[in-house]
Amino acid sequence: MRDGGERIHGGGLVDIDRGLISRDIFSSQAIYADELERVFARAWLFVGHESQIPEPGDFVLGRMGEESVIVNRDRDGRLHVFLNNCRHRGMRVCRYDHGNTRKFYCPYHAWVYSDQGALIAVPKLESGYHNELDRDEWGLIEARVSSYHGFIFACWDEATPDFETYLGDHRFYFDDYCELPDGTFGDWEALGGIFKWRMPNNWKFGAENFAGDYYHNPSHASVDQVVLSPAGVKGRHTYDTVTRKREVHKLNICITPEGHTARGELFKDDYDYMPTYQEMPVVEDWFRECYAKRQERLGEKSRWFGHGGTIFPNVSYSNGVQSMGTWHPAGPHETETWRIFLVPKAAPDEVKNVLRHYVIRYQGPSGLTEQDDMENWGYAHEGARGTIARRHPFHYGMGLGHERKGWPVDWLGGDVYATEDVSEQNQRAFYARWAAMMDTPPGAETRRPADIKAAE
Ligand code: FES
Ligand SMILES: [Fe+2]
Repeated sequence: MRDGGERIHGGGLVDIDRGLISRDIFSSQAIYADELERVFARAWLFVGHESQIPEPGDFVLGRMGEESVIVNRDRDGRLHVFLNNCRHRGMRVCRYDHGNTRKFYCPYHAWVYSDQGALIAVPKLESGYHNELDRDEWGLIEARVSSYHGFIFACWDEATPDFETYLGDHRFYFDDYCELPDGTFGDWEALGGIFKWRMPNNWKFGAENFAGDYYHNPSHASVDQVVLSPAGVKGRHTYDTVTRKREVHKLNICITPEGHTARGELFKDDYDYMPTYQEMPVVEDWFRECYAKRQERLGEKSRWFGHGGTIFPNVSYSNGVQSMGTWHPAGPHETETWRIFLVPKAAPDEVKNVLRHYVIRYQGPSGLTEQDDMENWGYAHEGARGTIARRHPFHYGMGLGHERKGWPVDWLGGDVYATEDVSEQNQRAFYARWAAMMDTPPGAETRRPADIKAAE
């Protein structure tokens, strides 16, 4: 606490109680270096989906912070996440984006590792090393792994709680994302490759935007005029076209104490399927059937329609378009965005095709909506770097003190705050978590913002 009573965290850079955040957290090289240590080296990070590596021996490259990792399924079917880095001199032991192998051969001096990470061959072990190299000590560096409904997360830090504890009350919203359109936990299939592109802005701009920035809708005004929705009608969201919104609690925004954030809306009782794919009877029938099954299976809870959210720190998911994106840090001034998108594995090809075209129109480097966002983030980042500009904090005060806890139903997961209009409570929750992790020295267990508040 400072003298005035405000809670200031993250080295005095994040003032949650006044909704003021220093621009330095987006542009300072020193803060960025701390983030890699204090946030990325101990958070659970998304690295891939099981459908990308269905068979024993399959691997796909992932990324954690700035570093390349191998996500693989070994010969016994077990998942691993290895640092893609040779223990001898650091060369990448795997230079292919994906494939199938039982061994990883380092191209530099030819050390060989098994698909379970063991160092199994070293040239000149006898004549060069005189049999004095203990190969058991020099296997690949391995992260902790957790697969949650097929979504693979990894973490370097033993002191971080298990993934489900880390997810905490956000579980309700991420479960909703993981469910197929019919409300079951069936199989998703990552279709095609991974969208990868670089953006000239700090990684936090994307993460906080997806966390709950409904306020920026005016910047998508032109996109709203064209046909982006999966059904090929005006609008850009799945829920614009597959639901008849007779009455909606609009823009309910929810946060949980872990600093993960979700967005969505809660339909009132009398909502129904709105026919939208009449030109494509196979697609129309499939969506209508899923919709009915979901209502039957989930009952009252089927009224919740998630839009997406951000799992702290850098994983943002979008419901409907069903993408899973990561804002990888690539220096303070650059983000390398990776995004996969998923389709229900058992859906007819016609449905998969409709969804594939939808995501290409909507998100990624070719997506019209994301192009608007990237332009905003690029200039906003420039605005965080200026000598004069950096003397003035960013404003995150919208809705401060007007958060409504627990409203409007008691079954929405967790310690929920919801507003029926726009608010920046989600961004404040995100930065409260960021500050809590940045305030925790290496080696200590990180605390949630709610724990810090309670202690104060
Ligand atoms: S760097 Fe890999 S064997 Fe030398
Ligand atoms: Fe946007």
